[in-house]
Amino acid sequence: MNVELLDTTLREGEQTPNVSFTLEQKLEIARLLDEFGVEFIELGHPAVSPDVHQAVEGLVRLETRAQKLVHARALPADIKETARLGVPWVGIFFGTSALSLAHKFHIDRTEALRRIRDAVCCAKDLDLKVRFTAEDATRTERDFLLEVAGVAQEAGADRFSIPDTVGTMSPRVFGELVHQVSAELAIPLHVHCHNDYGLAAANALAGLEAGARLADVTINGLGERSGITALAELALALKMLYQVENPWKLELLPRLSRLVERTSGVLLSENRPIVGLYAFTHKAGLHTRAVLQDPRTYEAFPPELVRRQRQITLSKYTGRAAVRARLAEMGIEAQTDQLDQIVTEIKSRPQKRHFSDVDLLEIADDVLGLELRARVPLQVEAIVHLALSSALYTTRVTRRLIGLAQVKEVYEITGDEDVVAHVVAGSIADLNDFIEELRVSDGVERTSTRLILKGYAKDESSNAV
Ligand code: COA
Ligand code: ZN
Repeated sequence: MNVELLDTTLREGEQTPNVSFTLEQKLEIARLLDEFGVEFIELGHPAVSPDVHQAVEGLVRLETRAQKLVHARALPADIKETARLGVPWVGIFFGTSALSLAHKFHIDRTEALRRIRDAVCCAKDLDLKVRFTAEDATRTERDFLLEVAGVAQEAGADRFSIPDTVGTMSPRVFGELVHQVSAELAIPLHVHCHNDYGLAAANALAGLEAGARLADVTINGLGERSGITALAELALALKMLYQVENPWKLELLPRLSRLVERTSGVLLSENRPIVGLYAFTHKAGLHTRAVLQDPRTYEAFPPELVRRQRQITLSKYTGRAAVRARLAEMGIEAQTDQLDQIVTEIKSRPQKRHFSDVDLLEIADDVLGLELRARVPLQVEAIVHLALSSALYTTRVTRRLIGLAQVKEVYEITGDEDVVAHVVAGSIADLNDFIEELRVSDGVERTSTRLILKGYAKDESSNAV
């Protein structure tokens, strides 16, 4: 399969409610996307606002292997500006559905075809490469869509894009549509799938299977309303389920995701595929038991593929195998009956949703009668204080912190500092990396960190430990 990805986090992604990237953030995102290896990056729509225009100017100067494209209406002013800015590709969009013609443009089909032809010709006269997008293509009458596609190609468009603008397609119907258009055109097709029914990834794959060359994506699936196809999901599916050979660096997906989570302020749900907190965490006893034997029993793909780690969470669903394995990692051996006691103890505390290493050591200590409490747990815990540059950032920073895997609790506090976070990391080095990342976050003025040497938890079943 000959496929390409166009990332439009900087344009469609910035159309997500409450999202606005600074130029520095856009440059950072574009650099990392280029390192990942997407084939195209959409830089923005310069006509939107002065800052978007400036960002496009800055992004054009960034050297990338990815080809650059900007968004433009089918208007000479937008197209000429693309050429003036020195962007090689212009993505001209024009709504072609009956709804668009009647309510956006108040024109008939003949006039629409004329505007489309003029716009593409205008861009070709300026030596631009053109992708023409028939906005709302999936709700455009089929015969007219084919006419639009023919006119765009004849006028010189290099690519034709079929967006499912309001996300109303099923994969089967979308595949048929793409197949039909591709039979009529010689130029490569693009697809742009919105996620209103949660089918953006499925539809993009259906489009590619039906012969489209390229799919639009955004990091974390950002975009208008429920967004569009997420980069991580599509890239992984294409590599693993379709065996495409593009040299994408899948291991950068979690970093891209975190960067955009931080800069957009839109937090991921924990169960998000690939990049979500729980994507490689096993809970049920029978699952963990099998995973400890061979991870393939309950994993679609190994976490190492995206440079993440498998985790096993201890809770009332836990069985002996997981407890034995975790204790063994801490150098503790327990007999079968002792293990049973530890598991019974864990299962007797359903209110406690998660057992940390410290919790496990506590229980093991009581059962085994060893002086385990003095042992250093595998994890490093710390309390991090953050001072913010203005109160405006408090909610944003707090919300962001809560969404991060390493953060257990967050408090907004009075005094010289504004926020306190309880952080758990795998090692001192991980902790340092994490704190460094916090330190350079938007709005964070300074941080101070205290390591936790011992933990004392209070819960329903025991008063003090
Ligand atoms: N091709 C050609 N003309 C288009 C068009 C298109 N795809 N879409 C809209 N227009 C025209 C409208 O017909 C209207 O023309 P008219 O003034 O002759 O009636 C004009 O653009 C709208 O202009 P304006 O009245 O200035 O609208 P605005 O204040 O909304 O400003 C933008 C226009 C593009 C700057 C503004 O809408 C914006 O920032 N949009 C964000 C980008 C966007 O909407 N992208 C669509 C994502 S797919
Ligand atoms: Zn869109």
